[in-house]
Amino acid sequence: MGDPVPPPRALVAVLGGGQLGRMLGLAGIPLGLRFRFLDPSAGAPAAAVGHLVVGRFDDPAALEELAAAANIVTYEWEGVPAATAHHLATRVPVYPSARSLAVSQDRLAEKELCRSLSIPTAPFVAVEHDRVADELARVGAPAILKTRSGGYDGKGQVRISSVAGAADAGTALAGQGPLLLEAEVDFVRELSVLACRGHDGEVVVYPVVVNEHAGGILRRSRPGVVADDVEAAASAIAGRLVEALDHVGVMCVELFETRAGELLVNELAPRVHNSGHWTIEGAATSQFEQHLRAILGLPLGDTRLVAPCAMVNCVATLPDRAAILRVPGARLHDYEKAPRAGRKVGHVTIVAPDHDTLDARLARVDAAMRARPPLAVS
Ligand SMILES: Nc1ncnc2c1ncn2[C@@H]1O[C@H](COP(=O)(O)OP(=O)(O)O)[C@@H](O)[C@H]1O
Ligand SMILES: [Mg+2]
Repeated sequence: MGDPVPPPRALVAVLGGGQLGRMLGLAGIPLGLRFRFLDPSAGAPAAAVGHLVVGRFDDPAALEELAAAANIVTYEWEGVPAATAHHLATRVPVYPSARSLAVSQDRLAEKELCRSLSIPTAPFVAVEHDRVADELARVGAPAILKTRSGGYDGKGQVRISSVAGAADAGTALAGQGPLLLEAEVDFVRELSVLACRGHDGEVVVYPVVVNEHAGGILRRSRPGVVADDVEAAASAIAGRLVEALDHVGVMCVELFETRAGELLVNELAPRVHNSGHWTIEGAATSQFEQHLRAILGLPLGDTRLVAPCAMVNCVATLPDRAAILRVPGARLHDYEKAPRAGRKVGHVTIVAPDHDTLDARLARVDAAMRARPPLAVS
């Protein structure tokens, strides 16, 4: 199917109705776009910004309702079955393409793509659950055993500290589909970089983000603080990956920075990403608007940072709203999700005139977050 010609009031159908869908809607409504979402949950956060079709991603009737009269289909979750994307693509343009989806929903395919482009990753090997001990020597210990598909927020992963634990790790993930064994990287920092590619092949890249995780879950992201050479190397990697995939839309590349200063690709997301939420207030064009511009064939926007900024996730519970709003430059994003251990229920972006002021404001936001302790992870 050819490039979409965006009518002024395009209807965008989104597979997934979580917070990413909600923020796509919040970004697209000012552009005159309308939204329809498909999600298995009747309480999906995107219902606030468009029509929510409640159904499974493989339910033909639900897909029919989602796609009816839609101008374009996109997704906010890469777990969507490939067959669903192919089915929808026979009648409505689907961006990013089924190939971007297929590669980024399989950790092995992601790493093989990197290998084919000579982009470094941690040593890895595909493995059967009952062969983990035999294969461990190929990547070395400590290692991480991961499900190839379906994992998020550190789920579907088991750390293996020595060969003694290898068999148990395999047993723990038995029955969860094909597995990937990779060496644990002794990284100094985790980085991510968002690139966006348009139909015409134009690529824009956002400032590199430093990410801090706890318990496998992203806690904090801060753009614009890495050295220029790291910035250039990460941007080049992201640019090469979106080009190799003919990707259209936003793509996030997660990276490890090693002690030797090398960048290793960890994983890809063929969509807007949590580590890009700061772009709503902190970049000239938010990642959500950028993604919509790209898939609709509109001109791409400026990715520059408008001021020092950072984003903090609200995990399990939201902080006291007033305590956050008292911090100058702080913005609260409440996804209207029920509190639950380990669940992202909102985020706070803090913008400041300089990095020292940003640090002081971040400390106040952290204090407000601590005042409402997260639920224990069960
Ligand atoms: N090979 C690795 N070496 C060191 N840490 C890792 C490795 N793989 C994952 N991690 C840690 O676990 C986190 C989550 O893993 P990741 O592969 O990004 O899966 P997901 O984000 O889909 O749950 C990473 O951000 C990183 O902190
Ligand atoms: Mg990750």
